[in-house]
Amino acid sequence: MKLLERVIKNAQSYQKRIVLPEGTEPRILRAAEIILKEKIARLILLGNPVDVMKAAEEYGVNIHGAVLVDPRTDSRRGAYADLMVELRKSKGLTRAEALDRLNDPLVFAPVMIKNGDADGEIAGAVNATGDVLRPAFQFIRTLPGVSVVSGAFLMFVNDPRFGHDGILVFADCAVMPDPTEQELAEIAVTTARTAKALAGMEPRVAMLSFSTKGSAHHPRADKVVKALEIAREQDPDLKIDGEMQVDAALIPDVASLKAPGSEVAGHANVLIFPGLEAANIGYKLVQRLAGAEAVGPVLQGMAAPINDLSRGCSVSDIVNMVAVTSNQAAALFD
Ligand code: ACO
Repeated sequence: MKLLERVIKNAQSYQKRIVLPEGTEPRILRAAEIILKEKIARLILLGNPVDVMKAAEEYGVNIHGAVLVDPRTDSRRGAYADLMVELRKSKGLTRAEALDRLNDPLVFAPVMIKNGDADGEIAGAVNATGDVLRPAFQFIRTLPGVSVVSGAFLMFVNDPRFGHDGILVFADCAVMPDPTEQELAEIAVTTARTAKALAGMEPRVAMLSFSTKGSAHHPRADKVVKALEIAREQDPDLKIDGEMQVDAALIPDVASLKAPGSEVAGHANVLIFPGLEAANIGYKLVQRLAGAEAVGPVLQGMAAPINDLSRGCSVSDIVNMVAVTSNQAAALFD
């Protein structure tokens, strides 16, 4: 898989500091061993160091070279609490509350990044998506000009006729349950940038629906049409079209019937789903039934790279996501 190899090679040259809050989880530890051995990133494992070392020993994993940090006793807690109070002063966060919240590695990690002590974070092997994302939203926040964070998947479908030589980008598969028109437009524009930055592709974005070019009349299809208009205003140079069904987006013969003349239909490489239900179910169907490799969710729009794992993730998923996160950190900070 050439693209992933390139992402890993880039990560090896960047040597970013990636914090892993789930320091005693066996898959995290096995991935850590590989990452350290292959020098893909520098790692910070959160947890009681005695527990982390005990777990590593129990699973027969060598984590030599990882920095172990205990959120409950770390000497930076006071400074981090001050930073949190400053960031959340409009919400009335007290210092005592901040110190209490820092006991949670999922809070400690983003604050560590905000303070400049790490470059990116991966979590979610044992924690639910919302619990990983909420502290990231609160303490890292979005990039200037971006109002919502969303989650894209790089889908490797093993058939070069589809997408960009067999690679497609799907979004938003992870965050926004029911985006507004404005948010859907922003997701499309942000995902096109992710596709370009991570996969080096020239994005052709399909705004998906159950309707193609007015074949059905329903408020849900209208929402996609409105989002398309807004996305075109936001990025007039972007190749984007819709509303369209997924067969019109992917299959040239269907496109010529349903969306003749479209520069996207039949050749889309970025698929924007109308909501989280369709996107999350869609990517898992392609992954499980078509045997595609799914890398992500790559969270986009955040001011620092924090990525959420699926709880069903494998060791190689974690290794790949650490490499992706390092690439995002380099794009944002270098
Ligand atoms: N982008 C940026 N900031 C956001 C976003 C977003 N998409 N969503 C919420 N926020 C901010 C809010 O503005 C709020 O900020 P504030 O505290 O400064 O006011 C903060 O984050 C917390 O917001 P809440 O409203 O408390 O959070 P909410 O309950 O809306 O939860 C969450 C957000 C957890 C991401 C929710 O949208 C969610 O659960 N989404 C689905 C996640 C999921 O289960 N995905 C599927 C699994 S992933 C997979 O299978 C790969």
